[in-house]
Amino acid sequence: MMTTSNSQEARKAAGREPSIGIIGAGNIGQAIARALARNGIAATLSNSRGPESLAETIAAVGPTIVAGTREEAAAKDMVFVAVNWSKLPAALSGLPNFTGRIVIDANNPIEAPLFKPAELGGCTSSEIVAGMVPGARLIKAFNHLLPSLLAGDPGSEGGRRVLFYSGDDAQAKAELGVLIDRLGFFGIDLGSLAVGARLVQFPGGPLPALNLVKFD
Ligand SMILES: NC(=O)c1ccc[n+]([C@@H]2O[C@H](COP(=O)([O-])OP(=O)(O)OC[C@H]3O[C@@H](n4cnc5c(N)ncnc54)[C@H](OP(=O)(O)O)[C@@H]3O)[C@@H](O)[C@H]2O)c1
Repeated sequence: MMTTSNSQEARKAAGREPSIGIIGAGNIGQAIARALARNGIAATLSNSRGPESLAETIAAVGPTIVAGTREEAAAKDMVFVAVNWSKLPAALSGLPNFTGRIVIDANNPIEAPLFKPAELGGCTSSEIVAGMVPGARLIKAFNHLLPSLLAGDPGSEGGRRVLFYSGDDAQAKAELGVLIDRLGFFGIDLGSLAVGARLVQFPGGPLPALNLVKFD
């Protein structure tokens, strides 16, 4: 039987691009979808209310993006998660095994309307998200910029807008690094989750909301 990590190896050996799913179709999920669509990259976008509720959104974000169920998005090689902090357990429960697949944690442990930081018990928020997707190769990324900066042209200021990422699996980070580059951003690997996720954590870390540009 082919395991998930075997099938990832087979995909890479065949030179196939990773398939992409997005769980959460709000400000950040749509911004990620727009960035992908602008570069001709396909993805399945999902929310809690089902694909029919996304018809207008899909028409607006771009032709390479399709609406799907949460399960369909979660079954892709690379799964972005952009859901309100308190709704993450529901959004990530009852899904297929994530083992070997890449999950990108774009979430922050705070939410409207109170904007009261969630109680994390000394952990990073990514450690808590990692516990909801057992076996996934988790990367913290796409959480530290405003949606408009994620969705907009990363070259608009004459250089390349910086995107930070961190995680414990070097190969997964290399794959995301390739995607970040294709999207036109300048990716900076902050190292392990224990270090990097703390640096970009909002609130608390020093890096969120900085609009940094790399000039060559
Ligand atoms: N907004 C920002 O400036 C910003 C910046 C960086 C990071 N973030 C982080 O990104 C995450 C998303 O923020 P946002 O502003 O995009 O939130 P948002 O606009 O409120 O969108 C949240 C999305 O999550 C979906 N969702 C909720 N429960 C779900 C479930 N059980 N299954 C599948 N999807 C579910 C919602 O779908 P339905 O509408 O169908 O329920 C909605 O599409 C948060 O963790 C936030 O902290 C936000």
